[in-house]
Amino acid sequence: MSTARGEFSSRFGFLMAATGSAVGLGNIWGFPTNAASNGGAAFLFTYVILAFVMAYPAFMAELIIGRYSKSNAVTALRGLATSPGAARVGAGVGFAGMITVTLILSFYAIISGWMLAYMFAAMTDIARLESASTWLTQSGTTRDAVFAGIFYLLTIYIVVAGVKNGIEKWSSRLMPSLYLILIILIVYVLTLDGAMEGLRMYLVPDFSRVADPQLILSAMGQAFFSLSLGVGTMLIYGSYVSKKENLPAIGGMVTVLDMSVALLAGLLILPAMSVAQLNGIQIYDEQGALIAGPALITSVLPALFDQMGDGGILVALAFFALMSIAALTSSISMLEVPVAYFVEDRGVSRRKAVIVLGAVAASVSMVIIWNFGLMFDWVVRLTTEFSQPLLGFFFAIFAGWVWNRNALLTEIKQGYPEAESGLFWRIWPWYIKFVCPLIILAVYIQLII
Ligand code: PFF
Repeated sequence: MSTARGEFSSRFGFLMAATGSAVGLGNIWGFPTNAASNGGAAFLFTYVILAFVMAYPAFMAELIIGRYSKSNAVTALRGLATSPGAARVGAGVGFAGMITVTLILSFYAIISGWMLAYMFAAMTDIARLESASTWLTQSGTTRDAVFAGIFYLLTIYIVVAGVKNGIEKWSSRLMPSLYLILIILIVYVLTLDGAMEGLRMYLVPDFSRVADPQLILSAMGQAFFSLSLGVGTMLIYGSYVSKKENLPAIGGMVTVLDMSVALLAGLLILPAMSVAQLNGIQIYDEQGALIAGPALITSVLPALFDQMGDGGILVALAFFALMSIAALTSSISMLEVPVAYFVEDRGVSRRKAVIVLGAVAASVSMVIIWNFGLMFDWVVRLTTEFSQPLLGFFFAIFAGWVWNRNALLTEIKQGYPEAESGLFWRIWPWYIKFVCPLIILAVYIQLII
């Protein structure tokens, strides 16, 4: 093991970095509308349960494997195997995770670029530069390419600086700001006329839907994407955690922090949507479904901010800063996955690996931008619905079946000496062995059918 390997310098640093990876566009635009269209609080209820019984155990598998092996996903999974066949599968899963996460980064950067463009548009609004604002908020390949490019430069700038001086430092600065902006925005929006109707949409449960397979599927996909699972991100962050830390506890904290941002985002987005509706802005599409995803962020909310007059410009600035921060602390964790592999296994310098891999992902983004209608949805679905759960399945198999149980316990005991008598050790090994793979498989089969 090389001594030059990065490590988070504190528990706070790890919590901010891992929560930064988990909290992203998925929490703010995915979760609230998903909840409102899937039975309101009934979805929240299912989501919270799934997050703890499905996503948290899978997340722990990655963290523990990561800290044990102190290496990237390819080397880590290969190292757990006890036969050459399993070693090949392990390396394959690591590689597939690396490709998946690069593809996730390539579509994520496009949306993140929009967030930056809208943030700049709020600034040009303040400066009364109307034509600049119009260009920034109108979709177009040049705008998309320029802002995705800027977003890559920011991501590269942070990752080049390394684990402690880049990822940890920036996550520790940006994540508290994210919480602060989110809370200020919620308080403000809740004072507006019409906000209460949105709260009702969000919080009044439609329990007839709790057992709806579609709801469970959406909640599970949301939880998986939200905790950045299956692609090696949490494994690599786990590999930078000190042996002094109690892993089940810090993993639980990240799960709770991630969930809290999703739940809080609902208190912002849905009231904002109902305020928009009261102001004559369309919030349902032709099929009667709540407008979600990109259209929500780039049409419904900006229309609302426009109607708020000059104050709306500041709200827009705060909101798109919030989105950009959420996106950036996630994208750095994505880029770190292939970077760690090339640095550790291929002996490439960090600087070169970051720049080349950033450029590769950026090139894929450009191809998607120029073939948006054809490729965008397809790449999103391929990576998040197909690849992430499948890879999560393999991680569970490696942690539950392939890895030696004693080695696993020894690892958990580091930083948590009394682990053997705790609740985690009584439930989790059994869980990761049987329950997680079976649930993922069941959900997966349903998805394919
Ligand atoms: N968790 C991020 C979100 O909710 O937006 C997305 C994500 C980050 C997915 C990192 C995958 C990943 F490796």
